[in-house]
Amino acid sequence: MNQTVAPTIPLVDLKAQYRSIKPEIDRAVAGVVEAQYFVLGPAVERFEKEFAAYNGVAHCVGLESGTGAVWLMLQALGVKAGDEVITTPLTFFATVEGILLCGATPVFADVDPRTLNLDPARAAAAVTKRTKAILPVHLYGQPARMDELRALAESRGLILLEDAAQSAGSLYRGRKAGSLGRAAAVSFYPGKNLGAYGDAGAVLTDDANLAQTLRMLRDHGGRRKNSHEILGLNARMDAVQGAVLSAKLPHLDAWNTARRGHAEAYRKALAGAPGLSFVEELPECRSNYHLFVARHARRDELLAQLREQGV
Ligand SMILES: Cc1ncc(COP(=O)(O)O)c(C=O)c1O
Repeated sequence: MNQTVAPTIPLVDLKAQYRSIKPEIDRAVAGVVEAQYFVLGPAVERFEKEFAAYNGVAHCVGLESGTGAVWLMLQALGVKAGDEVITTPLTFFATVEGILLCGATPVFADVDPRTLNLDPARAAAAVTKRTKAILPVHLYGQPARMDELRALAESRGLILLEDAAQSAGSLYRGRKAGSLGRAAAVSFYPGKNLGAYGDAGAVLTDDANLAQTLRMLRDHGGRRKNSHEILGLNARMDAVQGAVLSAKLPHLDAWNTARRGHAEAYRKALAGAPGLSFVEELPECRSNYHLFVARHARRDELLAQLREQGV
């Protein structure tokens, strides 16, 4: 038999990442099992402190998912029926879901074709009397043009937020994505650059009152057990996720640097390939390359060919 099997190249190889830090992960998970403290508690508190410090913000509130983070961030800021939130039409559904779950209306402003991120000029054109907030997404890891969006928000009295679900460790003018607005929603879905071992998310903010409201919302609306001051729900981060994320956080910058190296290699190797173009990286941005995105005039054919070859 002389059959060759094409190697399979996955989008992301989480098993390889696990093997590279196995003792640290195993120790972290075993620590939670030993402690038998499974929801919030010391492991989550430790990660919240570490991730807040990493991002240069005062507060990190650990939640059950990035979807919950988008929704509860808006909810905690009082976004409600009758309010409009300007966002990008090119994002994962959860960005819009969070707005809709508050009863508010998402208003789409188109993207800059170079970066595929929310275009500040189009966002400005979408402002109405009902606009309450602007929610850009740092898509594929590249921060949106936050200076222009901040100037817009300040001039019109709007809240500037971030959907930083894809941008852990990315930089904008030297500052972390996730520290650039009033608050940021983060996802630790396993495939993210900083991925948990299950669902998890967080909100980052410098606003102590907002952080306190989020801590109440995530835990049935109270500060203590069996006290329910506002209407909340169960949206708490579990301790295994906190422990795994603490074990992984020290590696995030090196992993992101490796991804940037891979992106550079793709750009060089594929430069001038007919019909192919890439998302541009702006000079003020340092993307974590959550995804390296290419566009092609005959996308579906290219995709089929790659799939045939195991990519
Ligand atoms: C831009 C964006 N927002 C929100 C989310 C929601 O995060 P999660 O999957 O953790 O609920 C994601 C995750 O895929 C995302 O990519």
